[in-house]
Amino acid sequence: MRITNTLVVLLVIALSASLALPAFAQDGAATYKAKCAGCHGAEGQGKVGPALKGTTLTDAQIADLLTKGDDAKKAPHKKALASLSADDAKAVATFVKSLK
Ligand code: HEC
Repeated sequence: MRITNTLVVLLVIALSASLALPAFAQDGAATYKAKCAGCHGAEGQGKVGPALKGTTLTDAQIADLLTKGDDAKKAPHKKALASLSADDAKAVATFVKSLK
């Protein structure tokens, strides 16, 4: 009985995690709106930061810039952006590449 209960609880946790997490991490548009639009503009048209739509950088280069930072860049990209997971960075990079 106890083992069954434990298994059920574990199953529920595993299911909710596998359902909730990817949806969260992959919502590049929402991440962009929350963390990038203020500087790069809602449509990637540029504001404080340069325009991102039509960027020649690849998804991987954008994700790298966000998660590792680049010494040659000005703030805030000298350092990795805080509170952005690797998955979020990938999702937001894909979203940036979709801006036209
Ligand atoms: C506080 C303002 C600010 C925020 C927030 C910000 N950026 Fe930037 N971003 C900049 C500035 C300023 C530059 C130019 C840095 C430089 O060239 O030295 C830049 C440069 C970039 C570049 C390089 C563009 C190029 O052509 O070289 C990319 C890609 C980028 N940002 C993506 C993002 C993404 C995606 C987010 C959200 C996760 C984000 N940025 C959040 C200000 C910001």
